[in-house]
Amino acid sequence: MNMHLRTLGTLLAGLGSALALAASPGDWNAPYPEKTEALSLRGDAARGEAAFAICQGCHRVGATGRADGSYPRLAGQHATVLIKQLTDVRSGRRGNPKMLPFADHQVLSTQEIADIALYLQALPVTPDQGRGSGADVERGARLYAADCASCHGARGEGDAAKFYPRVAGQHYRYLLRESLLIRAGGRRNANPEMLRAIGGYGDEDIAAVSDYISRLPVAPP
Ligand code: HEC
Ligand code: HEC
Repeated sequence: MNMHLRTLGTLLAGLGSALALAASPGDWNAPYPEKTEALSLRGDAARGEAAFAICQGCHRVGATGRADGSYPRLAGQHATVLIKQLTDVRSGRRGNPKMLPFADHQVLSTQEIADIALYLQALPVTPDQGRGSGADVERGARLYAADCASCHGARGEGDAAKFYPRVAGQHYRYLLRESLLIRAGGRRNANPEMLRAIGGYGDEDIAAVSDYISRLPVAPP
């Protein structure tokens, strides 16, 4: 009897911590000291340009990224989004082992993060992003309007104040790769409402919506 109660207690305790671990909607963007600090600092675009030199080997000059999807375009992205993603990577909230040695505290100061974010936000988005096959764009448009536009915006412009990334101008192959990662739970810092939206998508849905996004007109930031 005692044994049973203890087992039940252990089970309940386990269930309790499992529930506590399940992310609540606010967790993906909960404040922590470095993010709060970086967001409050005044950036300097000229210093940001200099500090971005070590990033160009991967993200390329002008932060255009690569059409093969290996490295995202950063030009024109909201400074708030860039700051959140960089401090999330540094603090282990988002995995990015390839980039970490270049974004580590020894290499990059919190001030430089604010500087780089300001520099990148103002860079022009050139309309040369990689696109999908075009086979299923209409379905992609319907999916986007139903499940994505409420956050990423009708024109893919995102929302700086809410930390929703701009997606217009992003390379198809990166959008595809990242959406698959989000669906698999591999992008640990992602908004759980988005996880619910993408969670029910099949591979073709993800390809169609990524293709649609990659064809959104590129407007100045
Ligand atoms: C060794 C290659 C490499 C270097 C150097 C590098 N990055 Fe990255 N970066 C990546 C990769 C790969 C990703 C995409 C990660 C993924 O697939 O989730 C990325 C993603 C990002 C993102 C997130 C973009 C998004 O849309 O979510 C930001 C912001 C970023 N990098 C900024 C920088 C900055 C600033 C530097 C220089 C201090 C830098 N990176 C240097 C490889 C690199
Ligand atoms: C509830 C708001 C919300 C909805 C709905 C949403 N997203 Fe997102 N999305 C976000 C946030 C927030 C991020 C950044 C996540 C993070 O902090 O890592 C993001 C990131 C992304 C990224 C990675 C962008 C980058 O620059 O790395 C892709 C791709 C993406 N979303 C696609 C979609 C698609 C496709 C849909 C619709 C099926 C969708 N999202 C619906 C909020 C949303």
